[in-house]
Amino acid sequence: MSTDNPAQTARDFPVPEPLGAHGPARIIAMCNQKGGVGKTTTTINLGAALAEYGRKVLLVDLDPQGAASAGLGVNALELDRTIYTELMAQRPDITAVTHPTSVEGLDLVPANIDLSAAEVQLVNEVAREQALARVLRPATEDYDVILIDCQPSLGLLTVNALTAAHGVIIPLETEFFALRGVALLVETIEKVRDRLNPRLHVDGILATMYDARTLHSREVLARVQEAFGEQVFETVITRTVKFPDASVATEPITSYAPNHAGAYNYRKLARELINRGDVA
Ligand SMILES: Nc1ncnc2c1ncn2[C@@H]1O[C@H](COP(=O)(O)OP(=O)(O)OP(=O)(O)O)[C@@H](O)[C@H]1O
Ligand SMILES: [Mg+2]
Repeated sequence: MSTDNPAQTARDFPVPEPLGAHGPARIIAMCNQKGGVGKTTTTINLGAALAEYGRKVLLVDLDPQGAASAGLGVNALELDRTIYTELMAQRPDITAVTHPTSVEGLDLVPANIDLSAAEVQLVNEVAREQALARVLRPATEDYDVILIDCQPSLGLLTVNALTAAHGVIIPLETEFFALRGVALLVETIEKVRDRLNPRLHVDGILATMYDARTLHSREVLARVQEAFGEQVFETVITRTVKFPDASVATEPITSYAPNHAGAYNYRKLARELINRGDVA
């Protein structure tokens, strides 16, 4: 085994015991205002990997682009009720917008372009930052993990995700400008923790799209580890075309290419989170 590929080496994490009972859920927001860093890919595939280990997982698409919904084969454009309608509802009903997916134990609350209006409409609401927490509250009893796929912005929807969450995962593309903007993101997380959600914890920084063959990737990873130390997950996600391929097939990589390195990466991330106690 090559020692310079952290995607393959480093210690492994034990396969978790099945759970006897489910809930209450830990809510994790997938956040980075930089676009295209692997937020949606991580939400879908970490969710699927946790479901493989018997965890009950709810994915919440909080991006008006609806990429997580599309990636799991839900055509959200045709739906009357989505996360948007429940955010705006007097009496939200999360069960009315929860869809099963092709993965057992993995459910989805979809989003579509309607959600782009929420940012403006929520501004005039009472407790505008708590709208999502209020919608999700009844679901926490039924799931072990709720993963929120944020849009690439630090606007009110993302603040809602951070207010509802116990933890944040920050995916970083292992590329030259990876660290750009992270300081602002960390500042936003700290503000939300101070003012709205004292329990909020940075679960970790996840290096994505890592290419062990390039010196560049290895250097960027080393710099990220130097800057953030223990906060960086040991698990590193390899760059592979299987991820976009799996999205086109509207499946997680864990079922589309179950023996591919990318599937192993996300299973390892699931085990790392469980092993650290971030997830039951
Ligand atoms: N490890 C990977 N290797 C190769 N391609 C990847 C990897 N992870 C994600 N991708 C691809 O990169 C693109 C961006 O990924 P993704 O949609 O997950 O990022 P995002 O942070 O959610 O983007 P946005 O900010 O637009 O919501 C997608 O086409 C996805 O298939
Ligand atoms: Mg996305």
